[in-house]
Amino acid sequence: MRYKSVCDVELSGKRVLLRVDYNVPINSLGEVVDDTRIVSSIPTIDYLLKKSAMVILCSHLGRPNGVRVKSLSLEIILPVLMDYLNNRNIMFTDDCYGDKAIDLTNSMKPKQIIVLENTRFWSGETNNGFSMAKGLADLADIFVNDAFGVAHRAHSSTVGVARFLPSVAGLLLDKELTYLERVMTKPDRPFVVILGGAKISDKVGVVEKLIDHADCVLVGGAMANTFLKSTGIEVAESLVEESAIDTAYQLLARAGDKFILPEDVVVANAMEVGADKVCMDVENGVDNGYRIVDIGSETIKLFSKHIARAKMIFWNGPMGAFEIPDFACGTNAIARSVADSDAVSIVGGGDSASAVRQSGYHNHISHISTGGGAALEMLNGNILPAVEVLDRICQTNLSN
Ligand code: 3PG
Repeated sequence: MRYKSVCDVELSGKRVLLRVDYNVPINSLGEVVDDTRIVSSIPTIDYLLKKSAMVILCSHLGRPNGVRVKSLSLEIILPVLMDYLNNRNIMFTDDCYGDKAIDLTNSMKPKQIIVLENTRFWSGETNNGFSMAKGLADLADIFVNDAFGVAHRAHSSTVGVARFLPSVAGLLLDKELTYLERVMTKPDRPFVVILGGAKISDKVGVVEKLIDHADCVLVGGAMANTFLKSTGIEVAESLVEESAIDTAYQLLARAGDKFILPEDVVVANAMEVGADKVCMDVENGVDNGYRIVDIGSETIKLFSKHIARAKMIFWNGPMGAFEIPDFACGTNAIARSVADSDAVSIVGGGDSASAVRQSGYHNHISHISTGGGAALEMLNGNILPAVEVLDRICQTNLSN
């Protein structure tokens, strides 16, 4: 049975424990550098406030392994959250469960917000320990999980707590699952997959599934280097996953005509702005001292032709070393082609999401997933524990 959503339950005057994924990048000054996950949580928070609920937010940040690390306190995200909530007052407690947190949440009034401290300051979080899960449940009347990014982890605040409370999905979690399920079960066709990024080995299962599902798979980024090398093309100093060359060859054989590798690439003599770079046909092989850093102009045209015909697009992984502006041309051009297409477009994975945002075309993408690991697990056909518990246990709790 499918999970229930936050729209299916009575919320007025209820204390709602809302699990969000505020595991956001922080710079050395303690500032949030990418607030996408915070922005993505706002619709559910607004909905809860509109329904006169009391909102108790919890999340992990980083991997502090059960100890307090000042630089990973969730207090860091407060100014950003306040900004997106029109400067609404937000309370913070340096606890996550126990007497102090209970007293505070018991004194809440409708439409108030409390942020709990980083759940991973307690080892019970990652162990999915009974007392932490129960302790979190003691703070609230309803559990709403909106943390798609961490739905592949069976932790106290994602799975354990749902055993003790009526538990439903938030608007973001529901949106993420709906898009990704559509990709895997009934994609609009032609369905075009764009794959990039560095590694093949940790994505083999997903790549196989996507090959079977897609009408065409466009491959760029460092991943393409390994595929090219597996066909005997010389790639010189390019980043290659040597241990995955056989796997790459087998995937190519499985994909047949569906797989489209770059015809030309940009090569450079260093990974830095201002490096000596040139566009060349792959069949000539890369000269010693050079490495592939981006897809070439003919490949951009070829990929864009397929993208223009697509009715659904799934994109995971940048087309080159986009973090260096000189090598971002291919990734930006593909982002533009996806944005210009009429297809339903889904971008999944942390790097791909940053790349699309950097390109400036992010507002023209149908859905940018907030979960890299979770999206890949799901596309691999694995059940996400935090979703499974909503499907299974909440039905019992909600009907009690
Ligand atoms: C993520 O950023 O992928 C999620 O927040 C999960 O974080 P984790 O990999 O530390 O569990």
